[in-house]
Amino acid sequence: MNRLSRLLALAALGACVARADKFEGLALAPPMGWNTWNTFGVNCSEALVRETADAMVANGMRDAGYVYLVIDDAWSARERDSDGNLVADPAKFPGGMKALADYLHERGFRFGIYNCAGSKTCAGYPGGRGHEFQDARTYASWGVDYFKYDWCNRGTANGPETYRIMSDALRAAGRPVVFSICEWGENKPWLWAAPVAHLWRTTGDIEPRFGRVMQILDLQAGLGGYAGPGHWNDPDMLEVGNKGLTLAESRAHFSLWCMLAAPLIAGNDVRRMTPEIRDILTNRDAIAIDRDPLGRQGFRYRADKGIEIWAKELSNREWAVCALNGGDSRTSLTLDWGGMTFLKGAYYKVTDAWAHKGVGANSSEAWAGAVDSHDVALFRLKSGY
Ligand code: GLA
Repeated sequence: MNRLSRLLALAALGACVARADKFEGLALAPPMGWNTWNTFGVNCSEALVRETADAMVANGMRDAGYVYLVIDDAWSARERDSDGNLVADPAKFPGGMKALADYLHERGFRFGIYNCAGSKTCAGYPGGRGHEFQDARTYASWGVDYFKYDWCNRGTANGPETYRIMSDALRAAGRPVVFSICEWGENKPWLWAAPVAHLWRTTGDIEPRFGRVMQILDLQAGLGGYAGPGHWNDPDMLEVGNKGLTLAESRAHFSLWCMLAAPLIAGNDVRRMTPEIRDILTNRDAIAIDRDPLGRQGFRYRADKGIEIWAKELSNREWAVCALNGGDSRTSLTLDWGGMTFLKGAYYKVTDAWAHKGVGANSSEAWAGAVDSHDVALFRLKSGY
């Protein structure tokens, strides 16, 4: 190879290396928000999103951090227009997406939308395949800040390539957008998605049953090393407050998702929830564990006879510890902090993140209590006596 061709080859390599990745800095903590799917399925609408936004201002959810309002599947017309553009279903979104985005932005929210990497979405609406750059420009023109991209009807498409193309398209459209990959963990996105996306689903869909919540929890063990500021494992949206989970189960589900540094995307009807459910979703002590700036995902420290102990390292050498009772009856439990190896024998002040008060004098005193079936105890440990 002569000198000139070597220089050209190096320049080409440089251009590849310099290829733009996702927009950085948008999800340094796991994103929080609300999504239409878990409760409303295909019945999304402009009225629903506006009412939800108004409710989230009034009930404190926005101020607790739930800012991304995401419209999931079935928002578009059944066909693209004659130029191949996606159009909002005029019956569901009579004012159009731009006006809805403006409504949300004026109230301090960010606007999220969904599509699918296949020829059609999971619910049978036009998919994004072959239209990536055009669609990204449409989303940018509407003021979209968060984009979830699903995996139905994708034929023989290659996962990493497909999501790279959409990420490039979003980048090319120029509007900073959080990119949420939803390929259900099929291609192990934790191994390749960090440069192109801010979060990726690790499993198939959640359901409002405690058994399914526990299954998804199990599947997160071992993935912690792949998450961190700007790139998160997504164990799917919350079922907190949905029929099928008891209050204790909603509290446990929420606490564990916080231990996992999971995106907290509410999936209930927040216009009509009980005060108890609102208190779960807006528990600032739990949310602070989820969104701690260190960005570590928690790990399962111990599992024995239905009791699991999860631990999550926090910034400033603090820790969160969650005891889960996955069994069928209320169980007495002693948490001997001194014996927890990850605490390395240091002293901590312990607070209960649900009772919002100190526990014992310090970590030299074990916690002795009981945890109801399908419930948790959640603690924050801060260095000091
Ligand atoms: C898939 C996704 C869900 C939801 C539906 C919509 O199942 O995993 O989160 O977006 O599609 O059809």
